[in-house]
Amino acid sequence: MDLFDKLETRPSPLGPFTSEGYGYYTFPKLEGPLGPEMQFNGKDMVVWSINDYLGIGSNEEIKKTDTEATEKYSLSAPMGARLMTGNSTEHELLEEELAAFVHKEKAQLLNFGYQGIMSAIHALVDRNDILIYDELSHACIVDGKQLSMAEKFVFKHNDIESFKKQLFRAKKKMKENTSILVITEGVFGMTGDLGILKEIIELKKEVPFRLMVDDAHGVGTMGEDGSGTGTHLGVQDGIDVYFGTFAKSFALIGAFIASEPRVIEFLKANSRSQVFAKSLPLPIVVTARKRLQMIKDNPQWREKLWNNTLKLREGLMEIGYTVLPSESPVTPVLTKGSTDLCQDIMRKLREEHGVFVSGVAYPVVPKGTVLIRLIPTAAHNDAHIEKTLKAFEAIKDYVFEAAEKLSA
Ligand SMILES: Cc1ncc(COP(=O)(O)O)c(C=O)c1O
Repeated sequence: MDLFDKLETRPSPLGPFTSEGYGYYTFPKLEGPLGPEMQFNGKDMVVWSINDYLGIGSNEEIKKTDTEATEKYSLSAPMGARLMTGNSTEHELLEEELAAFVHKEKAQLLNFGYQGIMSAIHALVDRNDILIYDELSHACIVDGKQLSMAEKFVFKHNDIESFKKQLFRAKKKMKENTSILVITEGVFGMTGDLGILKEIIELKKEVPFRLMVDDAHGVGTMGEDGSGTGTHLGVQDGIDVYFGTFAKSFALIGAFIASEPRVIEFLKANSRSQVFAKSLPLPIVVTARKRLQMIKDNPQWREKLWNNTLKLREGLMEIGYTVLPSESPVTPVLTKGSTDLCQDIMRKLREEHGVFVSGVAYPVVPKGTVLIRLIPTAAHNDAHIEKTLKAFEAIKDYVFEAAEKLSA
């Protein structure tokens, strides 16, 4: 069979939803300056779907740095991978600043977080080792695990008994040269709950292992100083390999891993997606430094983000919606329903109320459930929240009746 013909028979994760909803439910185009007010299909929207947690995307001082750095360096420079010709003093300074920010000794910049974390997993553990990971880990961890030759054990999401079981199973299988790497997340991006870092770290006393934490949603948003979920939970020292991305609270592209110097030196020479790929362009690195400095200098952004999060969450619950007990800004509204209901909620909110949210249904969440995920940011204001709560109030009878029908 022709390979291209065969592709038509292979469903994508969202099935026909991906192509049928193109431009509306999938691949929508939000236009206008980045922020809580954007246009969709020519209509003004209050947007709750972008991870610009600290509202950096609309910051004028940062935009000025973006422009000046691009004029100074061009988007082309430097050419080549870091290891070859793609290094610069700016890259090295950013690494030092990131390491200090997350309270680690050394950091490695990654041109993309996704590939970076995959390669780090691949580089860190080999066929003699054992990987233990949370079942709800992000796709980049799942792909990194696939790439690795290590033996893999998975534990039930945030279930310490299940983790313990897998850890002791691993212990039994250990030979002299076996090492264990445990991977979980700081903030789980769909549901907003935090990884059980404290409980996991506690078990290092019983079976030695190293812990890698993907804190994509936690860096910048969690912890008193924004240094992430480990700091928030008081266990940053127990995280051996810390991952953060610029794709969310930095509103940029690129990412980093922070750890001990010997680990970072090893990863810099062995992470294949970094050794064999172009390094981050200089303007990105310069503006990442600026963004980091501004995140450190403006703790009130985080405060605003949390205030907005609480107002939105409380308002939704007062109306009667089930908001999952998220411990991060991620605000997941859960209801019973089908893919059709998920689409209806998104469409009604957009068309009738000018509120843009994203939702997911089966197979991303269990069959019969719909999850509408709202991402508050520091750039949202009370008017945005009020407008959104009114919209949710207006559609609630429709949503709750659909849920009741499904339960009957
Ligand atoms: C939990 C998590 N890990 C990793 C990544 C990948 O990071 P990046 O966008 O920098 O490739 C994402 C998405 O941004 C994410 O949500």
